[in-house]
Amino acid sequence: MIRNPIIVALDVPEPAQALSLATDLASVVGAVKIGSELFTSGGPDIVRQVRATGASVFLDLKFHDIPNTVAKSVSAAVKLDVQMLTIHTCGGVEMMRAAEESAQKTAAALGRPAPLVLGVTVLTSMDGSDLQEIGLTSEVGCQVERLARLAVQAGLRGLVCSPHEVVMLRKIVPIDFALITPGIRPAGPAGDDQKRTMTPREAMAAGSTWLVIGRPIYAAPVPRTAAASIFQSLA
Ligand code: C5P
Repeated sequence: MIRNPIIVALDVPEPAQALSLATDLASVVGAVKIGSELFTSGGPDIVRQVRATGASVFLDLKFHDIPNTVAKSVSAAVKLDVQMLTIHTCGGVEMMRAAEESAQKTAAALGRPAPLVLGVTVLTSMDGSDLQEIGLTSEVGCQVERLARLAVQAGLRGLVCSPHEVVMLRKIVPIDFALITPGIRPAGPAGDDQKRTMTPREAMAAGSTWLVIGRPIYAAPVPRTAAASIFQSLA
């Protein structure tokens, strides 16, 4: 049996709804993702409750602050027993290093494996003209590559990226580096706001380690069946 690489995004506003989805899906996905909307409404309690279903938790709060503050936020996330979390790579090498060290230290003190601290490079909602507007003159791809190299230098062990960036990134990251890709659509055009998508199978073939999938699972008529059939499509 292959490892289940599906991370279902619990992008629902109500903590009760998120918990019932997590309970339903825990045994058919590899992890569940809690983002800023759910965390802001449900707080640390929703993280503990989701974790109690047995699901691995990806806390996607994209920390971006001074190194000391990010280190302390990461430490608080490790105490919630999350298995993955995100930080912005544009916070710089010192900030990323502080985050990774904090994850390692806090986890060691608790006798747990350190969670994967994942770097976010350029948000996929931004294009070249958005970068120019904030004073960055590089092409999007060059900026992603630059930030990815800094993430490796800082000791991070993974990045969130577009499935279309995976092949390029695999050339510059260490062999066991995790690449987590959203923008996954099981088949055909989905007609929602994701523009540059890949199927789960294509994204895994390109070199993704984990697939973040939201609406194709949680908005399906039977989410558990949708998740199971996506997993089967990878066999
Ligand atoms: O519903 P859908 O499959 O599009 O959900 C994708 C999830 O991945 C959402 O939680 C979205 O915020 C997240 N995400 C993304 N693109 C990125 C980073 C995160 O779609 N570049």
